[in-house]
Amino acid sequence: MSLTFAGVSLAFGAEPVLSGIDLTVAAGEFVVLLGPSGCGKTTMLRLASGALKPGRGTVTSGFARAAVVYQTPRLLGWMDALDNAAFGMKSLGVRRAERRERARAILMRLGLAEADLAKRPSRLSGGMAQRVAFARALAVEPDFILMDEPFAALEAGLRRRLQDLVRAETERSGVAALFVTHDVAEATRLASRIVVLSARPGRIVADFANAPAREAAEAFEAAAALLRRSDVAAAINAAGGEEF
Ligand SMILES: Nc1ncnc2c1ncn2[C@@H]1O[C@H](COP(=O)(O)OP(=O)(O)OP(=O)(O)O)[C@@H](O)[C@H]1O
Ligand SMILES: [Mg+2]
Repeated sequence: MSLTFAGVSLAFGAEPVLSGIDLTVAAGEFVVLLGPSGCGKTTMLRLASGALKPGRGTVTSGFARAAVVYQTPRLLGWMDALDNAAFGMKSLGVRRAERRERARAILMRLGLAEADLAKRPSRLSGGMAQRVAFARALAVEPDFILMDEPFAALEAGLRRRLQDLVRAETERSGVAALFVTHDVAEATRLASRIVVLSARPGRIVADFANAPAREAAEAFEAAAALLRRSDVAAAINAAGGEEF
């Protein structure tokens, strides 16, 4: 099972957004797409999920079930946390009692308290809401999970705790992941492989294996080493020297 981009290019109108993308994500891999704002990362996830078709080239997926976690939680406002987490299983024909039981177990693993399960999204903190969104994705037992900067809006300590949960949960289930970020330390903390994109139009400028850093300090050291690589530095400079 794998997902393959072969010679993929895409333009919105006259504006090229992605150029000559060749990438395969294999079963069990945790691939982080790292690149500056506007380089086409979200567009690549939309191509990967089949929501968008490429202008040139092909995107083929052999995965049986993909789940997506967006930058904002996208929870349903009239449902409590438990029903939101259970929601994705509905279309799979899982009975309500079992849906709620499965969702509860995942939410507990992700650190929600019993009292939080009955809260509607408007009463959840940003961190809790993102945990519910992650639980909703895990609950369908995907073999491929797509994540689009899911923790970008959260404070650093909370982000690290959620990164630990993502690591624990993906290792536990063996699900393949394609995770988008512009945070270099987040990439070194999560990835089994890091793919660096240039500024728009996005092209792959580096693609290498990464041993996920266990500790925050180790992640920052790995990030510093990454930023000293000439191919990565070139991509950042091309993006105007802004932080990724
Ligand atoms: N549906 C669309 N129609 C027209 N242009 C679009 C559309 N979607 C994205 N774009 C443009 O394509 C480019 C890439 O967008 P994309 O959202 O993939 O970037 P990104 O790498 O995810 O950026 P960010 O890090 O800011 O989220 C941008 O210039 C954006 O304006
Ligand atoms: Mg984006």
